[in-house]
Amino acid sequence: MWLWTWSFGELLKEDQVVFHYSEIPNFPQSTVPGHAGRLIFGNLNGKPCVCMQGRFHFYEGYPLWKVTFPVRVFRLMGVETLIVTNAAGGLNQDYKIGDIMVIMDHINMPGFAGQNPLIGPNEERFGPRFPPMSDAYDKDLRKLALGVGQELGYVEKMREGVYCSLGGPNFETIAECRMLNSLGADAVGMSTAPEVIVARHCGLRVLGMSLITNKATMDYNSEAIASHEEVLQAGKDSAKFLEKLVSLLVQRIEPN
Ligand code: 6GU
Repeated sequence: MWLWTWSFGELLKEDQVVFHYSEIPNFPQSTVPGHAGRLIFGNLNGKPCVCMQGRFHFYEGYPLWKVTFPVRVFRLMGVETLIVTNAAGGLNQDYKIGDIMVIMDHINMPGFAGQNPLIGPNEERFGPRFPPMSDAYDKDLRKLALGVGQELGYVEKMREGVYCSLGGPNFETIAECRMLNSLGADAVGMSTAPEVIVARHCGLRVLGMSLITNKATMDYNSEAIASHEEVLQAGKDSAKFLEKLVSLLVQRIEPN
């Protein structure tokens, strides 16, 4: 079984079964405008998938163990591969709005401040106390994603880089963007690292992709201001491309 997040639920046309998060015992509820709260099961190109339409964020007030709770539910249901997508601000000056960054690695900033989803007694049935993260983003899946994107004709749009997770909910200051960029981050957002940490802890294979929805402001003379509207608009503009990419990827990914 497969899984990915974000608005690809419409892709699961074959044998679709939908649950609202409110119907699922102990499932958190999504509170962000623009993030639906539904779990969609179905087949895509003959492959069984489950899609989280709408995810949970730390800034909504959930502790990280709750934010990442669905990942363990999916593991127990037999999911083997996790495809995580997100909207992110481009820190890398070469990146353009609408680019897709295949996540090569992440920087989990909240972890530096003691916020990690694995804090607390270790659940041995899911994974080890001290899981490695140096191989978090599967090399073969990264290569496949870049290749499939290029095959679809998006040669310049496909990037590979480092995603930095922050807690949110405010967008970054200019000084923060400059700092993150100098630390080696190519894109910044408010999700993903916690889910990936929990997924790797329990042995899921992970592919992560960021849609660059806006350019992070690095220049004090710039008039650009980040906004949720801009992020949503860029998401809408790239929806078809992302759907094609994910659809072909699911077709091509071989089971473990
Ligand atoms: Cl610029 N920053 C953060 N933290 N999250 C974002 C973003 C920026 N753009 C989309 N999501």
